[in-house]
Amino acid sequence: MSSGTESSGADTANSPLSVEEIKVAALAALTVAGSEAVLDEWRVSYLGRKSDLTNVLRSISSLPADDRKAVGASANLLRASLEEALAEKTQELRGAAGSVADALDVTLPGRRRRRGGLHPTTQTIRELTDAFGAMGFQVAEGPEVEWERYNFDALNIPAEHPARDSWDTFWLESPDGEGRSDMLLRTHTSPMQARIMEKADPPIRVVIPGRCFRYEATDATHEWHFFQLEGLAVDKGITFADMKGTLFEFARRIFGPDRKVRFRVDFFPFVEPGAEMAIDCFKCNGQGCSLCKGTGWIEIMGAGMVHPSVLRNVGYDPEVYTGFAFGMGVERIAMLRHGIDDVRQFAAGDLRFLSQF
Ligand code: DAH
Repeated sequence: MSSGTESSGADTANSPLSVEEIKVAALAALTVAGSEAVLDEWRVSYLGRKSDLTNVLRSISSLPADDRKAVGASANLLRASLEEALAEKTQELRGAAGSVADALDVTLPGRRRRRGGLHPTTQTIRELTDAFGAMGFQVAEGPEVEWERYNFDALNIPAEHPARDSWDTFWLESPDGEGRSDMLLRTHTSPMQARIMEKADPPIRVVIPGRCFRYEATDATHEWHFFQLEGLAVDKGITFADMKGTLFEFARRIFGPDRKVRFRVDFFPFVEPGAEMAIDCFKCNGQGCSLCKGTGWIEIMGAGMVHPSVLRNVGYDPEVYTGFAFGMGVERIAMLRHGIDDVRQFAAGDLRFLSQF
């Protein structure tokens, strides 16, 4: 027993750790503790019955009387501060775990990213070119800034001809600043008829989508810029019946298999005879409603047999070749199909409108 007491006293006297050393080791270990289980181990190691600190407190009675008070005070202070640090760390770990759990519910579906989409005009152009593509037409595009010659003269609309009044035109200024030049923003896609025939030999079957411009006041049915889809077929022996058959098939593909078509005489300088094509109203089946303004018919496009002068202008012999041409407003087709009542919506850039398509 006495040797035990002695040895215990000697141990304490030679204790490898002072209160200060215990504090440093304990706080270092606490800082890196990352879970409540590790905190529990830490509590046993530094505050438990067999811990160095408990040993120090137990050994106080064996210290010289002068040291007892100071060692006892600092050891008790350390004990209190370690207990407090433990409580704080426990809180911290629980708090962190709690907030992570709140923020992350792995069972929730992911948030969808908003994706862009094709503009309704683009979608309509694709549907139209697909319909004609299936009937053997190629697709071509041309310049929006056009020569007066292609936009008018080549199409049998000479200067001073009253027909020019049908196309209010944005003219480019002449380079010397004196009045207008002989360039303009194309008023229709028809100039591409002449451009294509100049470059290629028949047979030709082509559709041309593109933006057009008119110097006009805007309202619900008029824009100063809009899209058209032009069509042209030239070959030996093409007749008005070919045109009717092609456009009838087009109408069925775009507006449904039950559509009827109607051709009535109309005038365009670059076709002869010229026609206006209408379909029976797909909303009321021709009974008469607000969409067809009570007529039962909806006008879709202008069309006709390519005028001999136009063929001659591009070097084709009208005695050998004939053809038909047509032109329609893309936004108008989109408006009819989707029930859109204001053409200005297409260029307004309003996502509430655009995201519906
Ligand atoms: N270019 C005409 C317009 O803008 C539309 C048109 C009518 C085109 C008859 C044609 C056609 O090819 O044959 O009003």
